[in-house]
Amino acid sequence: MVKLTRKLETIEPSATLAITALAIKMKREGKDVISLSAGEPDFPTPRNIKDEAIKAIENDFTHYTPESGITELKEAIAEKFEKEWGIKYNVNEVIISNGAKHVIFNALFALCDEGDEVLVITPAWVSYIEQIKLAGGKPVIVETKEDNDFIPDPKEVERKISPKTKAIILNSPHNPTGAVYPKDVLIKIAETATSKGVFIISDEIYDKLSYDEECVPLVHLIPEAKENILIVNGASKAYAMTGWRMGWGLGPANLIKAMGIIQGHMTSNPCSISQKAALEAVRGPQDEVTEMAREFKERRELICSLLEKAPYMTFRKPKGAFYLFPNITKALGKSFKGEVIEDDITLARKLLEEKLVAIVPGKAFLAPGYIRISYAASRKDIEEASKRIIEFLEELV
Ligand SMILES: Cc1ncc(COP(=O)(O)O)c(C=O)c1O
Repeated sequence: MVKLTRKLETIEPSATLAITALAIKMKREGKDVISLSAGEPDFPTPRNIKDEAIKAIENDFTHYTPESGITELKEAIAEKFEKEWGIKYNVNEVIISNGAKHVIFNALFALCDEGDEVLVITPAWVSYIEQIKLAGGKPVIVETKEDNDFIPDPKEVERKISPKTKAIILNSPHNPTGAVYPKDVLIKIAETATSKGVFIISDEIYDKLSYDEECVPLVHLIPEAKENILIVNGASKAYAMTGWRMGWGLGPANLIKAMGIIQGHMTSNPCSISQKAALEAVRGPQDEVTEMAREFKERRELICSLLEKAPYMTFRKPKGAFYLFPNITKALGKSFKGEVIEDDITLARKLLEEKLVAIVPGKAFLAPGYIRISYAASRKDIEEASKRIIEFLEELV
């Protein structure tokens, strides 16, 4: 047995990827599994983007690129941001990484000294906590509640700030709750953090998927705090490009430079071909982004209306991203075919085994008693899966 680093003793594997892997395995065994567990659009990457990638290969754009990405793509991202939000970033304030996940990891690695605290708002996306620990930091939880639509209380954020607090991670639209933070809450948190020297990582990967109001980048709300904010975004969700691994960060030059150095030693550079594809995504027509967002909005209506009548389950209508986050505490303690549903993990497993529907237990997001249902699936799958979920809940005794 190889002796591994002590750091890994507290690191959990990604629960969403684990459930997705199990669902894929069952599908391969020929089972009629419907997967509502994955955090990715089910649409194909738009044709024009794929064509640019093919062109990149044909033109032999297949070698190392600068470690923090090609200037052309950085410029395109900065230009689009300035055009849309009126805030200018220079190329040395932009980094291209292998997905938004990698941007956040680079940032945490650049920011955290051993034992530095990073505030995380829970429920939280699976990787924040583990990334903070891997970077040597200490996650400090700021809880949000369903009663308050999972919106963080700025005063609670302030209470959790200590002399060791290095950064806070914000995520709106939010995975897994679908919350979109009100502007005044975001401004208040940003003001507090900035006044106390706490850096803000603003994960805006779902910004194109805000259904009731436009999602505005944090730096646009509080431009005076620009030097204290890293905006994280990417191509995965907006352009249906999860597999291409294209994320980017916009932030202060010294942080971006440090992140580039870390990335250079770790991966040399983001994939050359994906960068050309992302360039087309950012510069090319945006109609498919709008169309996908419109379709997700309709699917939100569909899934909410289908599951409204499900027993033992309550939920808030999500305002953004593509997840429903029902409270299933009323189902706990009941039995399905003789097995007691002790927690959300048992419920998720039983639902997969018995009704062939894959969802993610809330525990993965530090929210036991909840489940996350992704509606990034076809309407047919949403309808059939909702029927099976209701059947499952009705059969509980
Ligand atoms: C909140 C959040 N941030 C970041 C990411 C990572 O996205 P990427 O595919 O760009 O690494 C995800 C993906 O699920 C996410 O849900």
